[in-house]
Amino acid sequence: MIANPETTTRVDEVAAGIYRISTPLDVIPGGFTFNSYLLAAEEPLLFHTAYRKLFPITLEAVKKVMPVEKLRWIGGSHFESDEYGALNDFLAAAPQATAFGSEIGVLTSLNDYAARPARAFADGEVFSIGDRRMKWLYTPHVPHGWDCGVLFDVSTQTLLCGDLFTQPGAHMPPVTESEILSASEGMRGMLDYYAHATSTSAILERLASLQPSMLACQHGSAYRGDGAALLRELAATLTNGGR
Ligand SMILES: [Fe+2]
Ligand SMILES: [Fe+2]
Repeated sequence: MIANPETTTRVDEVAAGIYRISTPLDVIPGGFTFNSYLLAAEEPLLFHTAYRKLFPITLEAVKKVMPVEKLRWIGGSHFESDEYGALNDFLAAAPQATAFGSEIGVLTSLNDYAARPARAFADGEVFSIGDRRMKWLYTPHVPHGWDCGVLFDVSTQTLLCGDLFTQPGAHMPPVTESEILSASEGMRGMLDYYAHATSTSAILERLASLQPSMLACQHGSAYRGDGAALLRELAATLTNGGR
């Protein structure tokens, strides 16, 4: 569904109760998408607020799914403007919502930036959003950010994988079953968004062991398929210095 004809912001249910809100911007040649994921649970959760300047657009898209005041959880993978820029606007619009992030993310950024106290999740911590269980995995420097982490929805086996598998392009299908590694390697060739950490392979193997059936990327299409195989292929590609 197109939520805003001017910006061509889309809202699509990509897995049961998981809505991908996607706005394309001309920040690189050929365009680039910024995705937030809204989980319509008993305690609704928004993963990535998108840029502060996009707040009215992202808000409009959230409202296509539910009243914004229903939001209880607002978080992101790591602290950058596309992940957390509109956090305080959303906290103001949703008075019962709590901001969340990794322990390091709360320590380094959210404690200062968020208008209300934020919740820090420990590595491997499982928490309930009512009818769904979520698992937070701390993934420092993968692909970037000391504070980086990803969120796993246990019920749909969806890995909200942040900037992993970032694909360029303005008008990407909401979901694809074709591999997304070639496109994300193309992006990495253009702009190397990976920290060169020694723990990358071990962290990617840990994510693969979750056996995700969907990789919900922040930039580009969500991938439906054997997420573990693709994560292992990514680890091998990075170890071998790229494609
Ligand atoms: Fe990032
Ligand atoms: Fe990002």
